[in-house]
Amino acid sequence: MAEIVRLADIARYEGREVTVRGWLYNKTDKGRLQFLLVRDGTGLIQAVAFQREIKPEAFEAALRVTQESSIVVTGLVRRDARAPGGYELGLTDIQIVQLAEDYPITPKEHGIEFLMDRRHLWLRSTKEWATMRLRATVIRAIRDWLDSNGFLLVDTPILTPSSCEGTTTLFETEYFGEKAYLSQSGQLYNEATIMAFGRTYCFGPTFRAEKSKTRRHLIEFWMVEPEMAYADLDECMAVEEQLVSYIVGRALEERAEELKILERDTAPLERVQPPFPRLQYDDALALLAEKGEPLPWGEDFGAPHETIIGASHDRPVFVHRYPARCKAFYMEPDPQNPELSLSVDLIAPEGYGEIIGGGQRISDLALLERRLAEYNLPRQAFEWYLDLRRYGSVPHSGFGLGVERTVAWIAGLQHIRQAIPFPRTLGRLYP
Ligand code: 4AD
Ligand code: MG
Repeated sequence: MAEIVRLADIARYEGREVTVRGWLYNKTDKGRLQFLLVRDGTGLIQAVAFQREIKPEAFEAALRVTQESSIVVTGLVRRDARAPGGYELGLTDIQIVQLAEDYPITPKEHGIEFLMDRRHLWLRSTKEWATMRLRATVIRAIRDWLDSNGFLLVDTPILTPSSCEGTTTLFETEYFGEKAYLSQSGQLYNEATIMAFGRTYCFGPTFRAEKSKTRRHLIEFWMVEPEMAYADLDECMAVEEQLVSYIVGRALEERAEELKILERDTAPLERVQPPFPRLQYDDALALLAEKGEPLPWGEDFGAPHETIIGASHDRPVFVHRYPARCKAFYMEPDPQNPELSLSVDLIAPEGYGEIIGGGQRISDLALLERRLAEYNLPRQAFEWYLDLRRYGSVPHSGFGLGVERTVAWIAGLQHIRQAIPFPRTLGRLYP
């Protein structure tokens, strides 16, 4: 009996007979030679069935096995520079576990809706496989950096009595006779947890009933939200640029093979190092006017504006001090000019737009009470949040990084929907 191995470890088994449990990715028929491309979830290998060197039943199995059939193959590991992954399997046996029906995703081109309807199968394709592995590394890098830089993971609720990022994108549900909303952000709760733990983060799914269909919006997306007591806007930016640089560095280090599969030009990623350029909102407006896309003062950027700002820099760029009126209710006003807020967005290069939103929060009770009223937010649902300004309020800051936008940027994807295993987009709840 040959040892059962994973393709990720195949280099260690050169010259030995091994068994691989996987699926048939593709097949090339050369008569007495059958080339089976086998995948096992950790990698791909070309397995060769040569009629003269294999039992007749096994060769017959190689002839009739269909795309995506589950198979257990045994063979000799040989070095082969031309083969994908650098090794080849000289087959001695093939067992078909289940002979797959006609597989709908063939090597020819398919439309995006066709593929999205079959997302549960499409995830087996190499580019999707590479993207999800990259995503896992991005998530691990985020956690590793925060865990080793003094941030405590504190989970925040999904079902909430109030909104954080405006009432237009709220998902409403019913909570035993009360109105409840799916969380848009864990930020408000983290403003409570930092007063208990100093620096915290939450990491989970968030929900926005976005009515727009764009390359950058999902209805359900994952966000990591660090929050820091006694930190101002400058410190917030310093933490953001370190975290983002670390994530990109880990992706380059650990996912070189996946980035190659994705045909990602890694040169722009290699440049992602602190310090990132810092632009004040007013400077960004001047830049936009210069590039022929003027925007009236006081308006938030749309995708074309972010694309121009991102394309004008060789690494992610901060835009800070947005007009207070285009940002959320909790933003601390700039003491130099209260029309401005101590807010900051991080805009990725190469057209990927805003990947982080954050800033310094209001710490004064009276001001926060005024803002709640100005934004027409129900005071009662925010009583606990106001308490944080009654009992030991401190200057504090934090931010939220969208996982899918970050993955889409690092992977170089056309659209954010391929950065999450099962995307929820406008009009898609299946599969
Ligand atoms: O800028 P946003 O709305 O900020 C907040 O939610 C803050 N409460 C975060 C905080 O300070 N703790 O969202 C933060 C990030 C965006 O920069 C973007 O990367 C991502 O979340 N994001 C989305 N990603 C995909 N689809 C959507 N509909 C998104 N909305 C926001
Ligand atoms: Mg934002």
